Amino acid sequence: MTATAERDYILGTHDDEVARLGVQHRVWRPRMLDAWRRARFTTGQTILDVGCGPGYAALDLAEIVNRVIAVDRSQRFLDALRARDVPQIETVEIDLDEDELPALDADGAWARWVFAFVKRPRDLVARVRRALKPGGVFVVHEYVDYRAWRVSPRSVEHEEFVDVVMKSWRAAGGEPDIGLDLPRWFEELGFEIRSLLPIVDAIRPNDFAWQWPHSFMESGIRRLVELGHISPERASATAQAFTATEANPTALMITPVVLEIIAVRR
Ligand SMILES: C[S@@+](CC[C@H](N)C(=O)[O-])C[C@H]1O[C@@H](n2cnc3c(N)ncnc32)[C@H](O)[C@@H]1O
Repeated sequence: MTATAERDYILGTHDDEVARLGVQHRVWRPRMLDAWRRARFTTGQTILDVGCGPGYAALDLAEIVNRVIAVDRSQRFLDALRARDVPQIETVEIDLDEDELPALDADGAWARWVFAFVKRPRDLVARVRRALKPGGVFVVHEYVDYRAWRVSPRSVEHEEFVDVVMKSWRAAGGEPDIGLDLPRWFEELGFEIRSLLPIVDAIRPNDFAWQWPHSFMESGIRRLVELGHISPERASATAQAFTATEANPTALMITPVVLEIIAVRR
């Protein structure tokens, strides 16, 4: 045990979640790197990684820019990143629901799947703005339509699972489709939107991208039982339905829609 209590989030901060975030990162890395290229993240810059998790993106950022400030409230996640011992990366343990971000005058900021989990997302936009210098660029990947996540052949169990996941995030104070609100808040709070890009894929079980929902189903179902959102019986029916979908080589999955936002601090 560490001296202070671990502050986890709805999906947990256990080793399975560290591993799942790694799979998710490997699937999403090409899109992330492309967004950073268009945002002109480059050598010499200081970039803030808002809600960095175990730091997969921060490690990529450190290969591009000079200084990465990686913030999260999970000690376990930050310890995983510190263990990598990368001199360009500074970790800061803060609660994004409450604390001010470090005063940085940063050249840019990056956040992925973080606004969906915080309780005061609009206020977090304002705090990120204060950590950026004028002209600083903020790149965000957040869900805009989580319910779009469907499979063919259609699965009632899958659709019910998506429903419960959304409810569980909302019950913890988050909002899965936060991408619907962010562009408006950005403009109200002093950002200029440079680009908006919805990202959705249609994938087959033999695509590498399938490993992303695969790993989420594994740990997600377990977590929903742990938190009392579904019964063990329903969990096993959901898992069986997903296994049947995966075993069907002609199965198709539409992924939950992510909105990429690139915005510049006015
Ligand atoms: C889905 S993970 C995404 C991690 C990382 N951005 C990535 O793309 O791999 C959500 C992250 O938000 C962090 N988080 C959620 N609520 C937070 C809060 N109130 N304060 C600080 N971090 C928070 C969690 O600890 C977790 O690391």
